[in-house]
Amino acid sequence: MEPIKSRVLVVGCTGYIGRLMAQASLDLNHPTYLLVRPDVVHDIRRVEIVLGFKAQGAKLLEGSLDDNESLLAALKQVDVVVSAMAENRLLSQLKLVEAIKQAGNIKRFLPSEFGMDPDRMHHALKPGNHVFESKREVRRAVEAAGIPHTFVSANCFAGYFLSSLAQFAQFMPPKEKVFIYGDGTAKVVWVVEADVGRYALSTVDDPRAVNKTIYIRPPANVLSQKEVVEMWEEMSGVTLVKCHIPEEDFLRDLQGPPSPKNEALSIFYHVFYKGECSNFDISDDVSASHLYPHIDYMSASSYLKRFL
Ligand SMILES: NC(=O)c1ccc[n+]([C@@H]2O[C@H](COP(=O)([O-])OP(=O)(O)OC[C@H]3O[C@@H](n4cnc5c(N)ncnc54)[C@H](OP(=O)(O)O)[C@@H]3O)[C@@H](O)[C@H]2O)c1
Repeated sequence: MEPIKSRVLVVGCTGYIGRLMAQASLDLNHPTYLLVRPDVVHDIRRVEIVLGFKAQGAKLLEGSLDDNESLLAALKQVDVVVSAMAENRLLSQLKLVEAIKQAGNIKRFLPSEFGMDPDRMHHALKPGNHVFESKREVRRAVEAAGIPHTFVSANCFAGYFLSSLAQFAQFMPPKEKVFIYGDGTAKVVWVVEADVGRYALSTVDDPRAVNKTIYIRPPANVLSQKEVVEMWEEMSGVTLVKCHIPEEDFLRDLQGPPSPKNEALSIFYHVFYKGECSNFDISDDVSASHLYPHIDYMSASSYLKRFL
């Protein structure tokens, strides 16, 4: 007999990774509830997304982080909350933390994280460092409120990073030339988004994951940018012109006025020059691959084959 699955509320279910959280919750047979903000009615794309989940059995609960009453009513119906709030709204989760504390019935909370571990990124460069600061602030509020939680570090989403062999603001492989960060040998962890959802949702009823940071680091997907470029060249038969960007040039270009581009690039620095997704050891008890060996994650190679 299958164990009873917790009821999961997904916040931010129409977002880039929130959609995969909702889908994973449904696929893993959790009774799935979606917080649907009133303004969804004005956005045909989001209406279609929530209707697609409703057709699969999700329950739609109207509410918003700005409306404590609706939030409490939603929280009372579930056991677990998974938040996939947007980066520029991370601190709005402090209201969610307060409501979870007030509701008193939530057995697990996963705040919006799913990147590098913010507690290992105190030294992060400006201007992208504020994302880590906000995630840390939410972590500390969750801990102070005594809310059982799991923080999920998912490293580099394949769609954002692997699809273009890590070319900035591009989401398909380059055709002629590829920019390589330094010598391209820093090890990076590439994770396909659907797998982020599957691993994250696997933690919610797992007592081994309570009050821990769980790292998604699929062994076959710990590859340098150079290895990924070589993999693509071999499968596509295309030889790309390599343009190496020396570290000092990259850092100099970051000095300009703060902009969303520079925010993202400052995170690229830590990933591709410093190898900070993988330059520390993780023990088996916090490794998603070790805890959930049955998850047949997608390899970087299979992901790239989709572009052939
Ligand atoms: N590791 C990686 O490579 C990587 C890449 C991208 C993102 N991330 C992380 O994943 C998390 C989610 O990012 P994302 O890109 O998936 O987010 P997103 O698609 O930009 O937005 C997620 C959700 O945030 C809610 N939201 C946005 N603006 C709002 C507003 N003004 N008021 C209330 N709610 C608002 C929306 O919820 P509704 O659905 O309710 O409308 C939206 O669907 C972040 O923590 C981010 O750092 C990691």
